Formats: sequence, structure tokens, C-alpha cells
Amino acid sequence: MTEKMKTIGIHKSEDNFSLVEHPMPSASGHDLLVKIDAIAINPVDTKVRAKLTEESTQARILGWDAMGIVEAAGDDTSLFKVGDKVFYAGDITRPGCYASHQLVDERIVGKAPKSLSSEEAAVMPLTSITAWEALFSRLKINPEQDQGRTILIIGGAGGVGSIAIQLAKSIAKLNVVTTASQEKSQAWCQQLGADHIINHRHDLVEQYQQLVIAEPDYILCLSDTDYYFDSMAQLIAPEGMICSIVETSKEHQLDTLKSKSAGFIWEFMFTRSMMKTSSMIKQHHLLNNIADLLDQGVIVSTLTEQLGTISPQNIQVAHDKILTGRTIGKIALGPFE
Ligand SMILES: NC(=O)c1ccc[n+]([C@@H]2O[C@H](COP(=O)([O-])OP(=O)(O)OC[C@H]3O[C@@H](n4cnc5c(N)ncnc54)[C@H](OP(=O)(O)O)[C@@H]3O)[C@@H](O)[C@H]2O)c1
Repeated sequence: MTEKMKTIGIHKSEDNFSLVEHPMPSASGHDLLVKIDAIAINPVDTKVRAKLTEESTQARILGWDAMGIVEAAGDDTSLFKVGDKVFYAGDITRPGCYASHQLVDERIVGKAPKSLSSEEAAVMPLTSITAWEALFSRLKINPEQDQGRTILIIGGAGGVGSIAIQLAKSIAKLNVVTTASQEKSQAWCQQLGADHIINHRHDLVEQYQQLVIAEPDYILCLSDTDYYFDSMAQLIAPEGMICSIVETSKEHQLDTLKSKSAGFIWEFMFTRSMMKTSSMIKQHHLLNNIADLLDQGVIVSTLTEQLGTISPQNIQVAHDKILTGRTIGKIALGPFE
């Protein structure tokens, strides 16, 4: 009998998730076949789901954060072997991790941290890649030279903010100002190392100025870029840099940054895998580095909620929570039911 893999797919945005079996795929080229142990849910899952239409004939398998064990490796692989524990976000152009097994290019996979549970590890890849690339590749923060400079992180308590605060504090040694609106999200940001917390439900410029600290050399926007663009342009220090990870739907005046010679740059963590850039392998090294930092206790897992096994019902519950926009840290599921 042919071996099967189980997947949890969806046809269009308003449909329910359903269990679908497929023949087990085989690993070729740079691909690893991974048996999934745990997954995490991200806002990108709900965003891709919202864009599914009647025209999609095949059920879409969402999910871009997983931890698992290598079951097979393609002929061109050299970084992992069968039996290795790995964690990764994957490629948005390929089927995701709401499945018992998944094919993933080894160049975007890291060795899993040894000291964490599967769920604690599964929540880390997508947000760590995003935060690391934003801080060190886009904002070009150099931990050797930029210690003591100031960063404003807008939306500190979410998945990306929770790791961005830790990296900005422990690796870059920056002065970290972040935003959070609930008592518990403020406490969480403080626990992760934020030096100052302001509330994004009130005027950011006014609150920042009341802190009586240096203007931010860097701003990392992890929420509504349209809403925050003007405040960021007002707050950024001369020669500072703003990075956003959230798409816009309005036009903005780049001229507002000109007199300060300030810059604006995007971070999209799927660029490297989507466009097969020569820098793609950096995500393998980056995730290995994150695993080491977790094992050494320099940073901690951002897991805050385990919702049980990977099942259509539990995935729906996780989507409903993500859509509130108020989750703190990250939600994980596992193993496959
Ligand atoms: N470009 C990329 O590569 C990339 C990668 C990852 C994520 N993203 C996008 O980045 C965004 C954040 O992702 P995430 O995983 O961190 O999301 P998340 O975990 O769902 O973020 C939840 C947090 O957002 C905060 N928040 C809600 N409304 C806010 C507002 N108006 N201003 C500031 N913060 C607000 C909440 O803080 P309080 O509870 O304190 O209000 C909550 O803790 C999403 O839109 C996601 O799709 C992009």
C-alpha cells in the first residue's frame, strides 16, 4: 500500500479546514522530507486564507512555522541527514506545514534547539528570521558599533516584537523603547527586556517626547504602517532608519524623511526563498544561530499558548485568536492528531 501523508487544507476563506490525504512526497534536489512534530500559527496564515477564492481548485495547505525530524533528504542536500531535528518557516509559494509531513529546501532550515520542547521551538523560525533580517540586514545594526543607540519597536508584544525586543537588547545592546496597550502585554515586553514602554492606543509622538530620551536611531514597525508612517517620520532621528514589515494600502510622502536624510526599508522574510536569492542560505545560518542563542539561554522561546494537537478544529481556534490582533507571544499546536 502507498504511504500517505495527512494534510489540513482549505478551499476558500469562509470554508472550514478539512483533513485530506495525499501520497507521501519524495525528497529530491535540495529538499528535505520532514515529519512534523509541532507548528505555530502566524498572521500570514490568516492573510493568505483571506485571499483564497472560489477559483482555487486545490485545497491550500497553509502554515509557515514548524519543528520536526528529517525522514528523507534529496540528492543535492549536504546540511542535514535522516533523523536530524530541524525547525524552519518554509516558502510561501509551496504547501505549508498544516500536515504530517512537508518538503522544505534545506537552505532555509536550521538545526532545532536541543533544550526546548517541540512547541517551544516551532514558534521561533518565522518571527526570528523576520526580526533578525529587519535588525541586522535591513536596518544594518552593527552590534560592535551601535551599542547604546535607541530603537523604537511598534507592536512589541506580538510574535515578531517578542523576539525583536530580545535581539535588540541582548545582541545589539540597544536602548529599547516599545509599544504595548494592555497591562499584560506591557508586562510581557518588560519581562523580555524593553527599557521603556509606551501605549499605541495613545499619541506615540507625545508619549515618546515625554520619555525625555534621544530620538530613535531606528524604528521597527510591526503593525499598521499606514497609521504610523507620519509619526515615524516625525520621531526618527536625523540619519535614522525605519523598517516596516506590514504592507501599506495608502500613499505616503517620502519627502517627509528628506530633511533628516532618514531612510525607509521593507523586510519580507519570504523574499529569499520566493526569489531564490544567493543569500537564501543565510536563513540556514540565522536559524542555527537562533538555536544556539536559545540553548545558551541568551534568548527565550516566545511560546505563550499551546492549543493541543494539529487538527482542523484547533487550527480554526488558533486563527480566531490571531484575528483578534491581541495575542501575546506565540501559539503552537502539536503533534499531528
Ligand atoms: N514582512 C514580513 O516578513 C512579516 C513577517 C512576520 C509578520 N509580518 C506581519 O507583521 C505583523 C505583526 O506580526 P506578528 O506575528 O507580530 O503579529 P501578532 O503576534 O498577531 O501581533 C499581536 C500584537 O499586535 C499588537 N497590536 C495590535 N494592534 C496594534 C496597533 N494598532 N499598534 C501596535 N501594535 C498593535 C498587540 O499588542 P497589544 O496587545 O499590546 O495591543 C498584540 O500583542 C502582521 O501584520 C504580520 O502579518 C510580516
